[in-house]
Amino acid sequence: MSVQRVLVTGAAGLIGRATLDLLDVRGVTANALVLEDPGDLPAELVIEGDAADPAVVRAALAGADAVIHLAAIATPERDPAEKVFACNTQSTFTVLEQAGRAGVTRACVASSQAASGLVFAARDLHPAYVPVDHDLPSQIEDPYALSKQVDELTAAMMARRHGMSVVALRLPYVGGFGDRLPDFARRSAADPAVHARGLWSYLETRDAARACLLALEVTEPGLHPVLVAAPLTLVPQPTEELMRRYHPTTEVRSPLPGRTVPFDLSRAVDLLGFVAEYRYPV
Ligand SMILES: NC(=O)c1ccc[n+]([C@@H]2O[C@H](COP(=O)([O-])OP(=O)(O)OC[C@H]3O[C@@H](n4cnc5c(N)ncnc54)[C@H](O)[C@@H]3O)[C@@H](O)[C@H]2O)c1
Repeated sequence: MSVQRVLVTGAAGLIGRATLDLLDVRGVTANALVLEDPGDLPAELVIEGDAADPAVVRAALAGADAVIHLAAIATPERDPAEKVFACNTQSTFTVLEQAGRAGVTRACVASSQAASGLVFAARDLHPAYVPVDHDLPSQIEDPYALSKQVDELTAAMMARRHGMSVVALRLPYVGGFGDRLPDFARRSAADPAVHARGLWSYLETRDAARACLLALEVTEPGLHPVLVAAPLTLVPQPTEELMRRYHPTTEVRSPLPGRTVPFDLSRAVDLLGFVAEYRYPV
């Protein structure tokens, strides 16, 4: 890798741990920012504290030349709406502002496919069209989706303000073969309505970590939103059949043969050279 030392925020979380593991394998030094140190993170420096606190972030950035910002409340379903929105947006602002001031020019932030508004809305929504691309009109009704949309606006501003490259990975449902993915796959296959809002997409945790590292290789200043997902869905039913049944008003703009995931993944390939390696055996 072309970076020497990476700050990973939210490093004790699902994707954070996998990211630290991969940095370790690649021989890249890591700093970790966590709310609470679990004591077993493969990082040279572990800083405990809130990612929305500039002093904490400054300490965590020591010597770093790149940032992978994953710290967030990853769902609107457990915490008060105000807390989800404030935590996520303030953390992203603070991490990128402090990184920019410290001279960091490469950053990756975790955005979400939920930023379209579909996943956590109180009612069923349908995308205007598929394959979903980076221009899909937003239908946001929940604080988590809004926080991710604001995070992308913040990232665009910080990219201009500090001359940084910021890749915002629009992640789908992320899970490991060894943890939550198999159960979710089983439930989604038995009843495709379970994952209809996520358009049956997923990404294995180790692939998510690899996408984060590839994002740090992008040098062109600016915000780069990138949709990432495994190329096939998590369910056995053909995608076009599922679209007709669960999203009947959605325009299907190009053929989606077999289990093709209804997302345009071309930017992930073109910009990051990323294609998911871990395919869940459906
Ligand atoms: N897992 C998914 O399916 C998924 C999908 C789309 C996007 N994302 C995004 O990816 C990122 C990582 O997700 P994850 O699945 O690893 O979530 P996670 O909940 O496992 O990890 C997030 C970590 O961030 C920490 N954190 C929260 N607020 C913080 C704060 N203010 N300061 C410092 N640390 C804080 C939490 O303690 C947690 O350890 C998040 O930004 C999430 O929104 C995840």
